[in-house]
Amino acid sequence: MADKEYTDPERMEKIVSLCKRRGFIYQSAELYGGLNGCWDYGPLGVEVKRNLKEYWWRRNVQEREDIVGLDGSILTHQSVLTASGHVGGFSDPMCDCLLSKARLRADQIEPQSGTAYHYTGARESEWSVARDFAVLLREGENENRARKTARQYYAQFHPNKSLSPKALELVGESTTEEEDTTRYNPENGSLLTEAREFNLMFKTQMGASSSEEDPNAVAYLRPETAQSIFTQFKNVLDTSRMKVPFGIAQIGKAFRNEINPRNFTFRSREFEQMEIEYFCRPEDGLRLTDEWLENRLTFYNDIGLPREKLHVLDVPDGERAHYSKKTYDIEFDFPFGCQELEGVAYRTDYDLSKHQEHSGRPIEYFDETTKEKFIPHVVEPSAGCDRTVLALLCEAFEEEEVTDAKGKAEVRTVMRLHPRVAPIKAAIFPLLKKNEEQVRISREIQHSLERFMNVFYDQTGAVGRRYRRQDEVGTPFCITVDFETLGEENPDLKDTVTLRHRDSMEQERIAISDLLPRLLDEIQ
Ligand code: GAP
Repeated sequence: MADKEYTDPERMEKIVSLCKRRGFIYQSAELYGGLNGCWDYGPLGVEVKRNLKEYWWRRNVQEREDIVGLDGSILTHQSVLTASGHVGGFSDPMCDCLLSKARLRADQIEPQSGTAYHYTGARESEWSVARDFAVLLREGENENRARKTARQYYAQFHPNKSLSPKALELVGESTTEEEDTTRYNPENGSLLTEAREFNLMFKTQMGASSSEEDPNAVAYLRPETAQSIFTQFKNVLDTSRMKVPFGIAQIGKAFRNEINPRNFTFRSREFEQMEIEYFCRPEDGLRLTDEWLENRLTFYNDIGLPREKLHVLDVPDGERAHYSKKTYDIEFDFPFGCQELEGVAYRTDYDLSKHQEHSGRPIEYFDETTKEKFIPHVVEPSAGCDRTVLALLCEAFEEEEVTDAKGKAEVRTVMRLHPRVAPIKAAIFPLLKKNEEQVRISREIQHSLERFMNVFYDQTGAVGRRYRRQDEVGTPFCITVDFETLGEENPDLKDTVTLRHRDSMEQERIAISDLLPRLLDEIQ
């Protein structure tokens, strides 16, 4: 069993650096200092993301008769999100550091123990300020650190901004012993404000004449893709002749004004979800939740996330979302800890009932066989596309020691991405760029494959270096056209090439005509 507490910040740093260096993921608006919590996928990252989405869609929509797709609008009517409970309750508890003004998620602060130094104010000559402040010192820390921090805090109220905080005299010092408190900033020990609720939705104004005050002009960027599935449930039912149980799937952007975006793309403010709302009879809800959990675990395995790195958390009562009667979180061992990849939730009939109630329009389902009318219950496997891409990149990254052709040891960086999600499926090289025949055949192979998959042609540098460049971006196959392809040394090998495998680095001889079926078989 893997250690769920294990973290490896150095490995994470290397992955982030490779992502930028090789064009997987860049910080959004990096040119202007970066837009916090937003990311841009580069030429290779976009391929991985598309491969993931296409495979998810194929498995969950194209290969199933009981699931259809939807692509709903991102801008969302405020009544939809009022009915769903997001306007009233989609919030996280937030607090501010009194000293640095950093904003923190109150429920994510690590409990700490130590001695709190309290003050009632500070003075300097004629000037004084009366405000309560406190600093937490952990065992062994010098009390002067508390005083220095407190002086820095009070100095911000002094009219002379160039005054040294050392000039301030602290007032009313007292101490208390604190155990497992979350009232202090773990970074600097400063007291935090009381936690208050912060709504995570991005609100916007619609229409040319819109103004902040006009409630009819308010719209939201959707915080989950699910709601348009619920509000279009009746339309899909009436137009697609689906019968319960059936599902509606959607892949699309969602937006949350996260208080602390962090861990690279893991917690972003703009991200993509891959969600299914699977409508069923009430008595089938719990069973289907278990079935969907297994289905989703198999999916992750099929894209290269091993079962032993996936963990299932049966979310306890009191910690589930307000709409859920049962939730499994599928977690993955990221280098920054074991964290949620997907939630499989039994949302009961909560959402459809709420939309029926708020819209005043019937959303019931009529069962032709039993002649019953009822509001279907729903099971929701909700995956994060960006989080899954991140998990794939983290799992794939490896540095291994190998010996080069001259017997010298070197470190090979290899992204062991599953061929299904790898951004480039095959790289094609002529052994010698000056050999016109090798170049011609290589180009022919490139053109014959590129209609079916993303391939890459490279003729620069020694072939060993070309292999290494492809290893680093996860290309599972390299095809080399050499003298044997031309049949110059052995006529039996004419029209064959070397197929080199990224993971084992083994090479085999294969007929050019066998390349396409062979590669298709590996990547589908
Ligand atoms: N419709 C249900 C729903 O949205 P959720 O647990 O809030 O449930 C589902 O989100 C999935 O969306 C998460 O498991 C995660 O993969 C992804 N997700 C949520 N918030 C995210 C964020 N801020 N950044 C990246 N992915 C996020």
